[in-house]
Amino acid sequence: MEFSIKSRPSAVPRTPCLVLGVYANGKLPASTAAIDKTTHGYLSKIIKGGDLAGLPGQSLMLHAVPGLPCQRLLLVGAGPIDKLNDQAYGKLLQCAFKALANSGAREAILQLGELAVEGRDTAWKLNQMVSLGHAALYRFDRLKSDAPKRPGLRRACILVERKELARARKTLTQATATANGVALARDLANLPANICTPKYLLSEARKIARSQKSVTVRALNESAMKKLGMGALLSVAQGSRTPPQLIVIQYKGARANQKPVALVGKGVTFDSGGISLKPGAAMDEMKFDMCGAAAVLGTMAAVAEMELPLNLVALIPATENLPDGNASKPGDVVTTLSGQTVEILNTDAEGRLILCDTLSYAARFKPELIIDVATLTGACMVALGAHPSGLFSNHPPLVADLLKAGNYSRDRAWELPLWDEYQDQLKSNFADMANIGGRYGGAITAAAFLSRFTTDTHWAHLDIAGTAWKSGAEKGATGRPVPLLTRFFLEHCGAAS
Ligand code: BES
Ligand code: MN
Ligand code: ZN
Repeated sequence: MEFSIKSRPSAVPRTPCLVLGVYANGKLPASTAAIDKTTHGYLSKIIKGGDLAGLPGQSLMLHAVPGLPCQRLLLVGAGPIDKLNDQAYGKLLQCAFKALANSGAREAILQLGELAVEGRDTAWKLNQMVSLGHAALYRFDRLKSDAPKRPGLRRACILVERKELARARKTLTQATATANGVALARDLANLPANICTPKYLLSEARKIARSQKSVTVRALNESAMKKLGMGALLSVAQGSRTPPQLIVIQYKGARANQKPVALVGKGVTFDSGGISLKPGAAMDEMKFDMCGAAAVLGTMAAVAEMELPLNLVALIPATENLPDGNASKPGDVVTTLSGQTVEILNTDAEGRLILCDTLSYAARFKPELIIDVATLTGACMVALGAHPSGLFSNHPPLVADLLKAGNYSRDRAWELPLWDEYQDQLKSNFADMANIGGRYGGAITAAAFLSRFTTDTHWAHLDIAGTAWKSGAEKGATGRPVPLLTRFFLEHCGAAS
């Protein structure tokens, strides 16, 4: 689907479907009121009749409204005018795009930018329309053999004020790049582990490099990892017959002497738990254990598409975690790239093992800051549920920036404490530390473990275990936190529209 921007015409536009907002209690936004007038009160009559209360989540599709040049008119509820907040606006957009997807319209014109969302401007509303529009029309059907039935909507045109046109075009470009990054992350994560292997992730990284000349890719194989001394990463990979890859993607959009930002994404293409085998229920969902990697690739693609003036290095440790005669065992002690030793008390706490060596390796690029993204702990989901990602950092200003970016993009994070007190839980009798910290505060002890490998750099960790995919009837990847990260980079380099 393609979005475009146009300035608001004086006459009612001719279109297969015109989408308008309606506040609760029969109040109408300016364009809706104008159309009500053109149609001699047709809309207010319907609303008075009780067919649309005007609450977010409600919509009404009208056909062949007398006196209008449009085939359809889609009215969407916006709630009470003084209660239209971020969440309500999101809900009404989701509802509008769902109705459009289920209709026969191939094109639509949206008049939803004029709704008054508390504290938000047109650029923000545009970002939301593009983001939620693409999300609503996303389908993952490439593995189905029947000819897929796709939504018919091809083009959506957003109307804005003439004076806002130039900025809106820039916003649209950025929002579209972000949506493309989200779709890439979702596609990769939705692929099953027999297709999306470490090698497949590498080939996807190479694909990005082929289409963007500022992007280069290389990979460290098992023997390169051995030479460097990545004992923790290798210990996870040793139980798998599919060789691991440490994928290194570099984007150069700024002067060569400008320090890069390092992005690290957990790329466990399947997490069975290893010898500490997981229970069988919902184990298929552990194909999503590479959602951090997918988000890093999606963000990289978005940043490159926007040609942002910054340098970025993305590092993806990609491996499976499987039980095997050669797999690591509880009690094994490994030496990490940092020189610190780790006692592997649970082979299912593998994410931190592949990340710790990758974080040490990231330091070699002398980054300005490091952000890692990982489906790291079930405990994070227990703590925060499925709405925010867990955020941990050793640098408060970085926390503020990431929270702000998440809040703007509606891909929110919530900070959890990373106090020294938690470090005690990682004590081992046999090595410098254990890879698990006991029953309580599991998301925090996992972050505390990682913090031991990033002591010299500003660093943040996003635990996306609860946000990266949905279970149940709507099982599938969300593409989070690509919107948060992309917004963070837009603001970081001062390019946000
Ligand atoms: N990939 C999982 C975390 C996970 C589990 C994310 C379920 C989303 C849903 C991770 O590798 C893991 O297994 N973590 C363990 C850690 C424990 C052994 C300390 C967990 O959360 O149970
Ligand atoms: Mn695990
Ligand atoms: Zn895992």
